[in-house]
Amino acid sequence: MKAAAAPSPLLEAQALRVEYRAARGLLARDRVIAVDDVGFSLDPGETLGLVGESGSGKSTLARAILRLVPVAGGRVLWRGEDLLRWDRRLLREQRRGMQIVFQDPFASLDPRMTVVETIEEPLRIFEPALGRRERHARVLGMLERVGLGAGAMHRYPHEFSGGQCQRIGIARAMMSEPQLLVCDEPVSALDVSIQGQIVNLLADLQRESRIALLFISHNLSVVRHLSHRVLVMYRGRLVETATREALFAAPRHPYTRALLAAVPRLPRPGIDPFATPAPVAAALDAPAAPSVGGCAYRERCPFAAPICAALAPALEPVEPDHAVACHRLEAQAP
Ligand SMILES: Nc1ncnc2c1ncn2[C@@H]1O[C@H](COP(=O)(O)OP(=O)(O)OP(=O)(O)O)[C@@H](O)[C@H]1O
Ligand code: SF4
Ligand SMILES: [Mg+2]
Repeated sequence: MKAAAAPSPLLEAQALRVEYRAARGLLARDRVIAVDDVGFSLDPGETLGLVGESGSGKSTLARAILRLVPVAGGRVLWRGEDLLRWDRRLLREQRRGMQIVFQDPFASLDPRMTVVETIEEPLRIFEPALGRRERHARVLGMLERVGLGAGAMHRYPHEFSGGQCQRIGIARAMMSEPQLLVCDEPVSALDVSIQGQIVNLLADLQRESRIALLFISHNLSVVRHLSHRVLVMYRGRLVETATREALFAAPRHPYTRALLAAVPRLPRPGIDPFATPAPVAAALDAPAAPSVGGCAYRERCPFAAPICAALAPALEPVEPDHAVACHRLEAQAP
């Protein structure tokens, strides 16, 4: 009997690189390499957490895979096709399958549009033949799924709280029935008391619709609560990728270990992750000084050795589904 074929990834990034022009006078060089040699894959229905301190390139990576920022190198495969080669027409058509929810719920909604206008817009684009009555019925169904009722339809964003605006943003993103939802810090602008509701809403939608989530967060507890696998980013590079269980039980990269050690108490999965807010420690943030060659973490790493300055470590598997970019794993206690 033939073995079952492994599911093919929904999305795959290979050696992805994104550069920005630096503000004049900021650096001697005129480029910031925001994402450098990043590769990962995401299966249908999977939740991938992405963590790293401020400025590490998380939003840039999220935008690059959706082609919202120019990509300087590498490939992004969507169902096996290189989306960086798509023309504008094809990109517009395929956008239906990949949606994004942003951090600031107010800024991501048009203040001049009512809720129904906001949420029905993707239907107007992707299903232009649909009549008004049918569109409004679909909007109403989606509003109910995200926990808002018919009373929200003809109101404007300023009439809603931050959490309600985020529900509207999620409803809009879900309207085109995407296979991938990228959530870029979707709860960090909200009150802690509201964050859990929005995270639980995303988890419910993910389960019901079997969509894949790329979930970016500073909050390690939330990432632990939601993710099947986790990517850890440091200054534009992935330093560790692992299943949720392996990453939180046996982190291997010195940076990941420092991140986890800085969290006061991580609740176990299934326990309310909002009981103890556990942000990626601001104390670990450092000015994003450029590292020329070598390991970008070396100025802060207690295990740094001459090889760390000479050569950038590649992300290498240490176990199935667990990869680490570090030259000196043997120097650290397991
Ligand atoms: N439009 C831009 N022009 C120039 N540099 C940029 C631009 N956007 C981001 N950068 C730089 O790229 C790097 C990565 O930024 P990015 O916003 O992707 O990080 P992040 O991990 O999402 O941070 P945060 O957690 O604060 O949202 C940073 O050094 C940032 O200053
Ligand atoms: S490669 Fe060297 S500097 Fe970088 S994390 Fe490993 S030991 Fe530390
Ligand atoms: Mg960001």
